[in-house]
Amino acid sequence: RNVIIDCDPGIDDSLAIMLALSLEELHVEGITIVCGNSPVEMGAGNARKVLKQMNRLDVPIYLGAEKPLKREYVSALDTHGADGLGESWLPEVPETRQELDAVEFLSRTIRARAEEKTGCSVIALGPMTNLAHLIQTDPEAFSMIEEIVSMGGSFKSHGNCSPVAEYNYWADPDGAALVYETAASQRKKIVMVGLDVTRKIVLTPNLLEYMKRLNPETGQFVQAITKFYFDFHWQWEHIVGCVINDPLAVAYFIDPSICEGFESFVQIETEGISLGQSVVDSMNFYRKEPNAKVLTQVDTYRFFEMMLSRVLEVEPESLDILENVL
Ligand code: RIB
Ligand code: CA
Repeated sequence: RNVIIDCDPGIDDSLAIMLALSLEELHVEGITIVCGNSPVEMGAGNARKVLKQMNRLDVPIYLGAEKPLKREYVSALDTHGADGLGESWLPEVPETRQELDAVEFLSRTIRARAEEKTGCSVIALGPMTNLAHLIQTDPEAFSMIEEIVSMGGSFKSHGNCSPVAEYNYWADPDGAALVYETAASQRKKIVMVGLDVTRKIVLTPNLLEYMKRLNPETGQFVQAITKFYFDFHWQWEHIVGCVINDPLAVAYFIDPSICEGFESFVQIETEGISLGQSVVDSMNFYRKEPNAKVLTQVDTYRFFEMMLSRVLEVEPESLDILENVL
C-alpha cells in the first residue's frame, strides 16, 4: 500500500519511520514534516538522520507548516530533547531540499495514485496542520486519501498536555478540528490511535536490552535516541521505560487486527480549559454519522513482535523469549 508519513520527528516518530521502512507491505511515497515536537527544519533534519541510519536516503522529505493554524507554536523539545532526537546529537545529514512543499506533495501524490487506482493513505503522527492546509487548498485531494490513521487524541485516558488533551491535537486544535469536521462532511472515518492504546506500548529497559542483543547496531541506535525519553517518563509519568506512541499507528495500518475500537462521532475542542480534547460521542448524544474509528484495545505482544522482527530484521519465530521480556 502507498503511504505518506506526516510527522514531527521526534523520538517516537523516528521509531515509526524505522518500522514503516522495514515493512515490505508499505511503499512510503515520502515523508512530510510538520512543526510539532521539533520546529519543522529540525524535524526534517532528524528525519534525514533516521533515513541515513536505515540507508534509505532515497525517501524524499518535504517541509510543511512552521506554525499551527491559529495557536502560537509550542514545541515538545522538553520531552524530545534540545535536538528533538533525545539529545543523541547525531551528525547532521546534508539535505537535498525538495522544491515542492509538503502540501503540494500531498496533493499531487494523492491525486496521482487515485487516478492510477492504486490509492494513497496518510499516517499522521504529529499535529494535523499539514492536513488542514491540504483541506484549505485542495479539499478534493483530501477526499481522495484512501485511509487516514492519526496518532492523537484520547477517549478515556488522561491527557499528556492537560488533564484531557493529547499533544498532537493540543498543539494545533484548529487543524485537528478542521480535519475531523471535513472527515464528517466527506463521510470519511479518521482512525484515532489515541493515548488509550498508545500508553500500553512501553519500551522498557528490558525490551531495549533484548533489542540490542538481537541486533546490536539497530538496538544501539534506538538506545541513543530513547535514553532522554526514559528519563522524561520517569520524571513526569513515573514509569520505567518510554511510551512509544507513533509506531503503533504504523503497525495498525499494516495489521488492524492488533487493535480493537469503535466508530464514533468525534469533535476537537479549540478553546478554553479543554482545548485540544478529542470529544468522543460514544453514546451518540448528537445523533451524527461517525467520522472516526476510536481505538481502545491493543495486543501489546503482537505489536512488539512486529516491531522487533521487522526493525531488527529477525524472524518472528526467533522471538522465543519476547513473552517474558515484555
Ligand atoms: O502525544 C504524543 C504525540 O505527540 C506523539 O506523536 C509524539 O511524537 C508527539 O508528536
Ligand atoms: Ca509525533
